[in-house]
Amino acid sequence: MSTEINPAPVTTIATLGQHEGQTITLRGWLYNLRSSGKLLFPTFRDGSGTIQGIVPKAAVAEEVFETLKNLTLESSVVVTGKVRADSRAPSGFELDVENVTVTQRIADETPYPISLKEHGVDFLMEHRHLWLRTPRQSAILRVRATIMRAAAEYFDTNGFIRTDPPILTPNACEGTSELFEMDYFDDDKAYLTQSGQLYIEATALALGKVYSFGPTFRAEKSKTRRHLTEFWMIEPEVTYLDLDGLMGLAEGFLTHIVTRVLETHRADLKVIGKEVSKLEAVAAPGEFPRLSYDEAHQMLVEAHAKGLIENAHTYGDDFGSPDETYISNQFDKPVMVHRYPAEVKAFYMQPDPNDPTKALCVDVLAPEGYGEIIGGSQRVDSYDLLKSRIEQHNLPLAAFQWYLDLRKYGSVPHSGFGMGIERAVAWICGLEHVRETIPFARTLNRIYP
Ligand code: 4AD
Ligand code: MG
Repeated sequence: MSTEINPAPVTTIATLGQHEGQTITLRGWLYNLRSSGKLLFPTFRDGSGTIQGIVPKAAVAEEVFETLKNLTLESSVVVTGKVRADSRAPSGFELDVENVTVTQRIADETPYPISLKEHGVDFLMEHRHLWLRTPRQSAILRVRATIMRAAAEYFDTNGFIRTDPPILTPNACEGTSELFEMDYFDDDKAYLTQSGQLYIEATALALGKVYSFGPTFRAEKSKTRRHLTEFWMIEPEVTYLDLDGLMGLAEGFLTHIVTRVLETHRADLKVIGKEVSKLEAVAAPGEFPRLSYDEAHQMLVEAHAKGLIENAHTYGDDFGSPDETYISNQFDKPVMVHRYPAEVKAFYMQPDPNDPTKALCVDVLAPEGYGEIIGGSQRVDSYDLLKSRIEQHNLPLAAFQWYLDLRKYGSVPHSGFGMGIERAVAWICGLEHVRETIPFARTLNRIYP
């Protein structure tokens, strides 16, 4: 407890607007320092934003001026000063510094490793524990938190029950080549989950509308800007929902998330450098375009004929990254591509009754070339068909016995999808690479720090 009479109230940079003209206290770090003779311009950050301070030598105690003048970057400080509105300042305010207490001064011999000059990505990833402090990285993490909250909120307020699937599982969900395997006592093997889907199909049949939200793992040997080996997935699963209903759900869900981000993160998006109008177009009224695989293929054929894309798309193949980029660039809103050839999709997808070579599935492609952010489908609900699918895919029947039970005891049509949070953050923030979307990215060649 402070013993001072009338101490300046402690506040945050983000809420300085409520304290204009008052003397307040900030607890933060020295982010930058410029000086011109008898004037210092320290910039402070406190996790909620950054603010520039003004320190004329004549206006403060000698000790305060000298302390700040010699302070090393990223030293931790408690600063007292008066909040002054300034329309030229990025935050709209400046701080007339009155006093400063240094919590820890970084020694001159061991300066903060990340300076304000440009660093290479490898260096920054190696110092990720410190890189997180820069305004842009902090802004991304704040937006990520809102995306996660808004995603859960959408389901929580629409009658879904959150049910948490296990992370240690006895079988694969999305293909056996991408599994992290571990010993599980005695002679057993366990695998880190690739998706909660199979388990939330069980909870959906218990509760109707459910979702899961947790870490998922893929031992993918892909080194792309879209792939992590550990990422967070949110997955709804709903009984008596068909593919059309599922696309409607995905549309409402993404619109809600983008709306929430626009409500609270305009300043952060500016720091990150994302063009807000692109997100406004997504949140604006109007449906997301829906394209069948055949229509998308046709679009690519025509684009190739006009020389707009390099490689011809082969009918029957999945779409490559340049294909997805081309398709999504034709629209302002996320585009929902449905009914892919069953062959290129997962074993659990329901065939289209009008053309059983197609699966009742949807991939949602984000705008601006960000590619697939959501994958989902209607699920096979017939016992016999599912059993033969498991066999065709050479999956171990014994491990899937419980999953087959769901088709034996009161089976119903049901559908669900999964969205990787990091892909959504990359798109919404406009980031080159998913490694910046999560505090500590896990990729093919990095597990430190
Ligand atoms: O398309 P996927 O593989 O679908 C499933 O896992 C289904 N079982 C989900 C369901 O229907 N409940 O993955 C879903 C989403 C992708 O669209 C993508 O956003 C993300 O998960 N994702 C990845 N994100 C980052 N790195 C990776 N390696 C990812 N793999 C998938
Ligand atoms: Mg997919």
